Amino acid sequence: MELLIVDDYEALGRAGADWMAAALAAKPDATIVVATGDTPMGVYRELAARRARGLLETTHLRVFQLDAYLGLAPDDRRSLYGWMYRSFIEPLGIPEVNVVRLPGDASDPGAVCAAYDSAVRCAGGFDLSILGLGPNGHLGFNEPPSPPDAPTRIVDLTPESIASNARYWGGTDQVPRRALTCGMDLLLAARRTLLVVSGAHKRDILYRVVRGPVTPDIPASYLQTAPHVTVLADRAAWGD
Ligand code: F6R
Repeated sequence: MELLIVDDYEALGRAGADWMAAALAAKPDATIVVATGDTPMGVYRELAARRARGLLETTHLRVFQLDAYLGLAPDDRRSLYGWMYRSFIEPLGIPEVNVVRLPGDASDPGAVCAAYDSAVRCAGGFDLSILGLGPNGHLGFNEPPSPPDAPTRIVDLTPESIASNARYWGGTDQVPRRALTCGMDLLLAARRTLLVVSGAHKRDILYRVVRGPVTPDIPASYLQTAPHVTVLADRAAWGD
């Protein structure tokens, strides 16, 4: 696990885009799973700006959705697919045929989870993964406790995740209680992972993820056991 500490959120965006540029140079048609949430937005904006200046070719990426609230229509303002589309897929010019959704509104969510697992395996697994860190140590919506072999599945959100997601949607009562998440097994097998963390409110949990025991109670701690993980944090999240 490599730890990369930068001064502030702006520097985080640049360093994350550098990581991605290096990965794309090695494999322009990489498979990638990408988080929504606030933290990686600076990275995505920087990627879009570099693409607009002709510095980066992102259109061959094959993108997998990381997580989805259960039961939301794709046009619901809370849809994580919508957020991923606006922040990553559209600004990076990725054709929709290159995108694999995790459709939270499917009539048989268990079946779509199994289909998603097969699609990832058919694609040869994830080359790249860009993740954020939940305040409770979740990865995607792999809520604690999540063992390392947890597959893509339906999960109940913990009160901590509901509370932290309330800011996006205008109150805890707006946050759906259940979700679909890409499994721990697929995330931990990604060939390269970038965990992006920002802000003093993540300091305690980040320290436990990086230095603490590996435990299902902090799902992100399993990244200590995964190949080629870069933890990219600002000083507020890591300290000096
Ligand atoms: C979002 C996701 C979540 C977030 C995490 C951190 O797709 O999978 O795991 O990455 O909750 O969210 P922020 O970055 O908003 O603090």
